[in-house]
Amino acid sequence: MGCGCPQRGIPVGHPFGPSPCFDAMQPMMETTMTSEKRDFDKEAALWDEKPQRVKLATEVAEAMVQRVALTPTMEALDFGCGTGLLTLQLQPLVRSITGVDSSAGMLAVLEDKINRLQLANVRTLLCDLDQGERLTGRYDLVVSSMTLHHIREVDTLLRQWHDVLAPGGTLAVADLDSEGGRFHGDDNTGVFHFGFDRAALSLSAAQTGFNELSVETATEIIKPDASGRPSRFTVFLLTARKG
Ligand SMILES: C[S@@+](CC[C@H](N)C(=O)[O-])C[C@H]1O[C@@H](n2cnc3c(N)ncnc32)[C@H](O)[C@@H]1O
Repeated sequence: MGCGCPQRGIPVGHPFGPSPCFDAMQPMMETTMTSEKRDFDKEAALWDEKPQRVKLATEVAEAMVQRVALTPTMEALDFGCGTGLLTLQLQPLVRSITGVDSSAGMLAVLEDKINRLQLANVRTLLCDLDQGERLTGRYDLVVSSMTLHHIREVDTLLRQWHDVLAPGGTLAVADLDSEGGRFHGDDNTGVFHFGFDRAALSLSAAQTGFNELSVETATEIIKPDASGRPSRFTVFLLTARKG
């Protein structure tokens, strides 16, 4: 069990094992989770300028390609696609991919790339689950990277992902391991979860109806935390199948 955080009934020795977590190794810090949403529209134009974001999306895509057998017949959905850093890495490997996001600004940047590259198999869809909107359609693959910690109701999203997946479809979601509120520096606006405990998230996915669950480390990020000290944060990749 990772980092001594309270767990929801996960037995010791659970097959998903302890998640890497640095809280236990770091002094306790004052961290506040706000209920306010982050304005991703404002960040959209310069989102891709940070090389670390491009590197992270590339490494998550590589981990997904290693773990999931992608095929040219697959209809895929990238939830919280942002400017399409992950979407466009997977696009050549699937039949189509729909980038879903609640930020019109992020989607505008992705649409500009789609037009410039003349991609016929990438669509965008504006959708905000926190406003009660629902995903529709039928997909063979749902992917998501670094978005889950920005979603208030994770169980609701898991249900929606399960609903839109075809029977036998695959979920591949990458996000931060438990990070104690240190990843976003001193501004946790729009951060509704300070990362995730792997076992607890796996249990939630299993309770939603997913099976063949697997969790691994996709990549790591070294960056200064709120105190300015270089810190290591790990990103997991959870994969699961709709039975
Ligand atoms: C940290 S960014 C990650 C973007 C992209 N996946 C990447 O790796 O570059 C999180 C994305 O989730 C989107 N998002 C946040 N809350 C959302 C919601 N409730 N519904 C849909 N998308 C949401 C944001 O607009 C943003 O583009």
